[in-house]
Amino acid sequence: MRIGADYYPEHWDKERWKIDAQMMVKANIKVIRIGEFAWSLYEPEEDRYDFSWMDEALDYFNQYGIKVVLCTPSATPPKWMTDRYPDIFQDDIHGNAKIFGTRKHYCFNSDTYRKKTSILVDKIAERYAGHPAVEAWQIDNELGWSNTTRCYCDKCKKKFQGWLKNKYKTIENLNKKYGTVFWSQIYNSFEEVIIPRAGACYDTCHDTQGQNPGLLLDYDRFSSDSVISFMNESVDRIKKYSNKPITTNMLDAAVNSGTGIDYFKCAEKLDFVSWDNYIEFQWGIAQAATVSRDHALLRSYKKRPFWVMEQQSGACGWSKMGPTPTPGKLRLWTYQAVANGADTVVYFRWRACPFGTEEYWHGILNHDGKPNRRYKEISQIGFEMEKLSQKFGALQPKAKVAIIKSFDSEWSHSIHKHVEGFQYDELLLSYYRPFYDMGIAVDFVSPEDTLEGYSLVLAPAFLIVPEDSRNNLENYVKNGGTLLISFRSGIKDESNNMFQETVPGCLRELAGVEINDYDPLLEKHIKVSGIFGKGQADLWCDIIEPTSAKTLGYYVEDFYAGKSCMTVNKVGKGNVYYLGCDLDDDAMRQLMEYLSEKADIAMEFMNIEGVEISNTTDGNQNAVFVMNHNAYPIVIDMNHSYTELITDVKIEDTLTLEPYGVAILQ
Ligand code: GAL
Repeated sequence: MRIGADYYPEHWDKERWKIDAQMMVKANIKVIRIGEFAWSLYEPEEDRYDFSWMDEALDYFNQYGIKVVLCTPSATPPKWMTDRYPDIFQDDIHGNAKIFGTRKHYCFNSDTYRKKTSILVDKIAERYAGHPAVEAWQIDNELGWSNTTRCYCDKCKKKFQGWLKNKYKTIENLNKKYGTVFWSQIYNSFEEVIIPRAGACYDTCHDTQGQNPGLLLDYDRFSSDSVISFMNESVDRIKKYSNKPITTNMLDAAVNSGTGIDYFKCAEKLDFVSWDNYIEFQWGIAQAATVSRDHALLRSYKKRPFWVMEQQSGACGWSKMGPTPTPGKLRLWTYQAVANGADTVVYFRWRACPFGTEEYWHGILNHDGKPNRRYKEISQIGFEMEKLSQKFGALQPKAKVAIIKSFDSEWSHSIHKHVEGFQYDELLLSYYRPFYDMGIAVDFVSPEDTLEGYSLVLAPAFLIVPEDSRNNLENYVKNGGTLLISFRSGIKDESNNMFQETVPGCLRELAGVEINDYDPLLEKHIKVSGIFGKGQADLWCDIIEPTSAKTLGYYVEDFYAGKSCMTVNKVGKGNVYYLGCDLDDDAMRQLMEYLSEKADIAMEFMNIEGVEISNTTDGNQNAVFVMNHNAYPIVIDMNHSYTELITDVKIEDTLTLEPYGVAILQ
């Protein structure tokens, strides 16, 4: 466990490096991430390279024992390149080429860009593979950031057609899978297949462009594959020269829904994953439960300790700023990451930059570069991490609960979202939150992952269930597992078509229910009652007819009053629960308490609102993190005595935490 900073040696006079390095050492900053936007320094003119500045920077920080994550700089192609090779630009959904001036405007399928990137990555990897300061590599920066995964240029169109040919083999097969007989869309050859740019229907169907759902889903898959293949090309290049670990910095779950990279797939070739965590900034304030969920996702993509590669460290925004982190919050956010499975937290950025788009984006230091309140707090964290890392290896929460996260389902839900207000990501969060409140760890699993070791598996709106995954679920339950399936699960095939079987399609027998009627609520709110107490559905109501299942909850109004909204079905040694509607927070909390009890999952101790508890292990020893996200002090009743590991104080009956306070207990 340790901390680092994102550093830009190229932004400062070299005389300043000394002060920075000394201040970093003093604060126990062990690692810096550098070089992700520096292409125009490395290659100021085509084929003229200059590595002297990076040589100097690496040697300089190495003297201080500071380790480096060295980046490939493909996020920002230089001006000469975009002028000479304008075909490297992406086209937006309307077919307009992007322009120079920001970043991430290049097309992942541009052969020119891939070639240029590979040449430079080769040179950087060859030159610095053996440098003693370099301990890891970062590919690009925030792949897919700001709607850049999906490009709509002719190069992508051609590659997409090849991708389709490879997948469907014959055009007849594609026509059948897509149902192109609808609206006279039958293709005679792969060369005729379009990419889903904004179409004639754009104004009325702006979410989806009114295009064929199978085509849209394939374009999402193709675009994700394109980004991953671009990234993997750089990974492979580096691996020729270096066996140091490679990562890329991912985005949070909410942003990812928009960017659309399958992070499970993306993680496959990486040695570890990392992400960028901004909590209170120009664009809003994230709730602690949401951030915790995002950490859990990151932990799950690779199933090993992850890094935060950019952790907010000051007030931030581009044109306007969000609030400065209240004293204690930097420390709280850092421990929240560690408690959820991060082993390195790197702050963005070391010092606020006086120029460029991000002139308001504060780092640890303000523009003046002097030690300040935040530097003091970071130094305290650095000291504590040093102490903890002498005792523990990387700590990971012990999760007994898993939520299935399916990127195919996510994309399909966003193409045709079933009912206004429905968001897959939000639904997953509503399943995560009760466990967060109870201090029970949750992993996310892909549809292909093994479910072994989990006592409770939740499958919210698991729309597209591949055959293997269905069998996986069945075996899990037969062997004694507890599974909950929700509305809008199992009802579509892999081409994004509705199944013709009765809802819930391929999960019908497992759930022991049939649904012959359902109600997308739009503006209605429906009262329900069941083992979760009383509650309310705001989005969706499946009117359940149990076949072999038993009813656990009822609708109490509208024409389906008295019909089932929730059931349980015994399968082998386990149970399958089916929840036909969404539920408000209180009912959801009660439901998850009930299921946790059924699945024998215990809370560490009684929790109170706004306090996050994470029970972790490094394989040898356990540590319980207690984090107060409230702006007021809290007192928790303890069931037995602990030692607080930072202060070495014994905690007997109660634990008191100051606002934003953290305790690490053993
Ligand atoms: C991240 C990005 C950084 C920096 C930061 C502040 O998304 O990776 O390069 O731009 O946001 O805007």
